[in-house]
Amino acid sequence: MALTRLKLTAFRNLLDAEIRPASGINLLIGMNASGKTSVLEAIYLLSLARSFRSKRLKTLIHHDEGAFTVFAEFAQPQTQIKTTLGIQRQQHAPETEILFQGQKPQGVAELARHFPVQLINPDAFRLLEGSPKDRRQFLDWGVFHTQPLFMSAWQRFQRALRQRNSLLRHARIDPLELRLWDQEVATTGELISTLRAEYLDRLRPIFSQFLMRLTELQQIDIHYQRGWDKQVDLSSYLASALAKDKEQGFTQGGPQRAELRVTASGRLAVDVLSRGQQKCVVSALKLAQGALLAEQTGQHCTYIIDDLPAELDIQHRQLFCELLEEQNTQVFITAVEAQAMQQDWKHPDRMAWFHVKHGKIQPTQFSSIS
Ligand SMILES: Nc1ncnc2c1ncn2[C@@H]1O[C@H](COP(=O)(O)OP(=O)(O)OP(=O)(O)O)[C@@H](O)[C@H]1O
Ligand SMILES: [Mg+2]
Repeated sequence: MALTRLKLTAFRNLLDAEIRPASGINLLIGMNASGKTSVLEAIYLLSLARSFRSKRLKTLIHHDEGAFTVFAEFAQPQTQIKTTLGIQRQQHAPETEILFQGQKPQGVAELARHFPVQLINPDAFRLLEGSPKDRRQFLDWGVFHTQPLFMSAWQRFQRALRQRNSLLRHARIDPLELRLWDQEVATTGELISTLRAEYLDRLRPIFSQFLMRLTELQQIDIHYQRGWDKQVDLSSYLASALAKDKEQGFTQGGPQRAELRVTASGRLAVDVLSRGQQKCVVSALKLAQGALLAEQTGQHCTYIIDDLPAELDIQHRQLFCELLEEQNTQVFITAVEAQAMQQDWKHPDRMAWFHVKHGKIQPTQFSSIS
């Protein structure tokens, strides 16, 4: 799905702003504090019903107002099927109101499936040095979008794990109940692990192709560590770890502890690659996820990229932009200077340019801001 209209009311400093983006590359140019990241934040909200900046959606409401509204229209470029989504957060309401096609969605997963978004910002660029949880989230984005079995396995696993952990903290444990939750953790945990490993096997070759186009880095490998002893299945592992788990009061191994190990010539990438090289690896990973999604499901994801010129040098930016353009997908990129963005594209006049100023967004000609 491509976003065809975005209307923002009292969303951060965007009191009343509207944009009709192109289904290809959209460039948002504006001074510091004009509202560029807020626009990306609103687009992200349409996919995940949460922000990448604040835990509490209330903080997104304009300071002088009682509610924000994000309204969006989408179209499927091939079929021209149209959809609408509205998200409203009121200062004093107990929860966020979401209307997808005029109805309350079943869950956030429905929004994510409808409009997959890939965020590339300074936090995303720190993927390799961040926590294992960040890398699991990265991996699970792809598994969720390409493996239909993943979502329900994940929900069942989370529930069983919570139950098992709570049981472990009891002074006396009912062995039958423990067996029951162990079984559920083991079956769903094994499935999650298999789906993740399969996904990564498909991602790896695509990632390598992108990386080769972006840098001269070679021998970058990604290994999946499933989160428990390599030699045994999860059921046997849980049984063998019971005494220690009881002592700690939680389940120490399993897919909740999985890790993606990215290495360069056998060494941990984060220890040996420069910051810029790490960003190229992350860029290739993100591009690979979008390409694999399109290959497997025919669905294109929307890339939202915050302040690209601040993150990559001109040479890598040009290569990255070339790859982005080849994906034939919707992209939103912010930058402070139009000049920097202009150098990144072979045909800057073909892109949709927008000027963000004091919380207003105006479509503009590339020639009038450059
Ligand atoms: N709830 C809010 N109500 C009103 N204004 C807000 C709110 N939250 C943030 N702002 C302000 O909105 C403005 C735009 O912020 P935003 O982060 O979108 O700017 P930006 O264009 O991305 O800037 P930069 O180039 O510095 O990253 C800032 O002045 C910020 O302080
Ligand atoms: Mg910003």
